[in-house]
Amino acid sequence: MNIAVVGAQWGDEGKGKIVDLVAPRFSLVARSAGGHNAGHTVYVSGRKFILRLIPSGILHEGVTCVIGNGVVVDLQALFDEVEELDRAGVTVAGRLVISDRAHVILPHHKDLDRLSETARGARKIGTTSRGIGPAYEDKIARRGLRMCDLADVPALEEHMRRVIELRNRLAGDEAPLDWRATSAKVTELAVRVRPWLADVSVLLDRASKEGKPMLFEGAQGTMLDIDHGTYPYVTSSSATAGGVCTGLGIGPGTVNAVLGILKAYTTRVGEGPLPTELLGPEGEALRARGQEFGAVTGRPRRCGWFDAVVVRHAVRVNGIDGFALTKLDVLDGLERVPVCNAYRCGDRVVTEFPADVRLLEHCEPILDWMPGWQAPTRGATSVAALPDAARAYIARLEALTGAAVVLVSTGPGRDETIVYDAPRVETWFGEGLLG
Ligand code: IMP
Repeated sequence: MNIAVVGAQWGDEGKGKIVDLVAPRFSLVARSAGGHNAGHTVYVSGRKFILRLIPSGILHEGVTCVIGNGVVVDLQALFDEVEELDRAGVTVAGRLVISDRAHVILPHHKDLDRLSETARGARKIGTTSRGIGPAYEDKIARRGLRMCDLADVPALEEHMRRVIELRNRLAGDEAPLDWRATSAKVTELAVRVRPWLADVSVLLDRASKEGKPMLFEGAQGTMLDIDHGTYPYVTSSSATAGGVCTGLGIGPGTVNAVLGILKAYTTRVGEGPLPTELLGPEGEALRARGQEFGAVTGRPRRCGWFDAVVVRHAVRVNGIDGFALTKLDVLDGLERVPVCNAYRCGDRVVTEFPADVRLLEHCEPILDWMPGWQAPTRGATSVAALPDAARAYIARLEALTGAAVVLVSTGPGRDETIVYDAPRVETWFGEGLLG
């Protein structure tokens, strides 16, 4: 089976942990979108790893990791991550393949990201300042630089001269970048990356024909998708299941099932609507209990209750076949827990997520309260060990969103997970996933 993993909310749902858990069941783990704006936190034997660009499968020796054409790659960030992993005893060389069609994030893209945010003023997106948006802008405007362009040094130098001169004009009084020095740095990194490049579509097609199981690892989440998210407060790539096909060069039939990663409540970083947001002490408590701070930028995440309007949207646009539910334990001990199933917008009740997010400024979530659970779900090792009220909460999420929960994460560690739907887990990942 080939499985796509996508975030069902605004990212940070815990994809890294789940991908790390199931990765040993796959020959290949491939990333299709985003860049080093992602932050996949994985705990292995008490050690914390934050993977930004390299697929989480890298922590398992037998797995080949792939970065697809839909990803934008900052070469310096790539090699920093490779070195970090090497220091931790994880060898990347020989196990990572990068698409020769992937676009390159150049040093000036970071500046353009910052300048664009400043120019937006109060309407800023709250980006991760990694140059992601400007790199995708160049791609769509057909003036980007791809991995396969790096071999032609004179053309690369000419490209760098043009883009840096433009950056310097846009940056006004700021210290200008020296295009020769920037170009020399990129050329040096280009030489290093060249042996890692390949035609990823051909590689995956071959693997598919050989019957090798593949895991497609999404980045960010549905509500940050350029088409289906809370536009314009989104990232610049296709974070939904459709992006897996364009971002890797595979046909839709290659994806056998879509696993949505779902947090038991809602968080987002950056600006933009979050209909169930908790602005007072309840939100602060959730942030503290869930350790909701950005893995890449360290920014505090905004927190809110579970929003089924958002998740129904995610189930539909991704074709989610089942969920891995994460961070249920963060809700342990609450007297009562709400879920939002609709918004009240004046005299209208809205049950489908609207295209125009300005509408949400005049909406309130309609909350349906359920009893909480006092016994901990943290550390539970079977479905039977979960408190009845926690199981009722899960059943309610399933009913409201129309997709079944197949795995439940009960803590940050790889093994702190419960198989919730054994037949489906066995079909997707094989027998004995949790030993
Ligand atoms: P960008 O991707 O840096 O352009 O940021 C655009 C928006 O996506 C901002 O709101 C970011 O906070 C958000 N974002 C980007 N990557 C992630 C992620 O991995 N997790 C959560 N939010 C993200």
